[in-house]
Amino acid sequence: MPLTFAFDVYGTLIDTAGITQSLDRLVGSQAALFSSRWREKQLEYSFRRGLMQDYVDFSVCTREALEYTSNQLNLPINENDKATLLDAYRHLPAFEDTASALKRLNDAGHRLYAFSNGLPDDLESLLSSAGIRDEFLGIVSVHEIRTFKPNPAVYRHFLQRSSTAANQCWLISSNPFDLLGGQSVGLHTAWIQRSQANLFDPWGKTPDLTLASLTELPESVN
Ligand code: LAC
Repeated sequence: MPLTFAFDVYGTLIDTAGITQSLDRLVGSQAALFSSRWREKQLEYSFRRGLMQDYVDFSVCTREALEYTSNQLNLPINENDKATLLDAYRHLPAFEDTASALKRLNDAGHRLYAFSNGLPDDLESLLSSAGIRDEFLGIVSVHEIRTFKPNPAVYRHFLQRSSTAANQCWLISSNPFDLLGGQSVGLHTAWIQRSQANLFDPWGKTPDLTLASLTELPESVN
């Protein structure tokens, strides 16, 4: 029976640590630390914007988090280099397991969507440059309702946009906060635990599936 899949994008399909190469040139040995702090701050800003009902484009969260991280780590980056980094953020690589897992799910007749905090245009360029855009029936962005994950409203919006009942829908994400959001409206959830260092929040709930990579996903949902 065909199922609907909502794939988180940043950190699940697309490797945000891919920005480390661009950062290497600018901050040398601090690149990995910079990249993870930048990502954490970007998410924190999206959570806070959501709570304050002060929505801005996710790209603004990304830009402001870059500014903060550069200041916090005392690693100045000039305006030109900031613009280059932000452009690189629209062309990050897919994880190596992504393309084949998506293809196998499509071959099995499932309905695949990208579902993300990102702006629709940014998601189009990101997924196209990573070579996986054509695997998706559509892109659903939180921008359509001007709030961020994990507001339960964005998961309900996904169900409406994809014309899916919650019990026919899988949310696939490496981000525990995202999965807990999806669970709150009844979606099935698969956690892609890309590193053993990533922990699931001890909120008394667990995902339906925990997988080390996307490779195991097509067999696990059949
Ligand atoms: C996204 C972020 C949460 O793609 O990773 O929505």
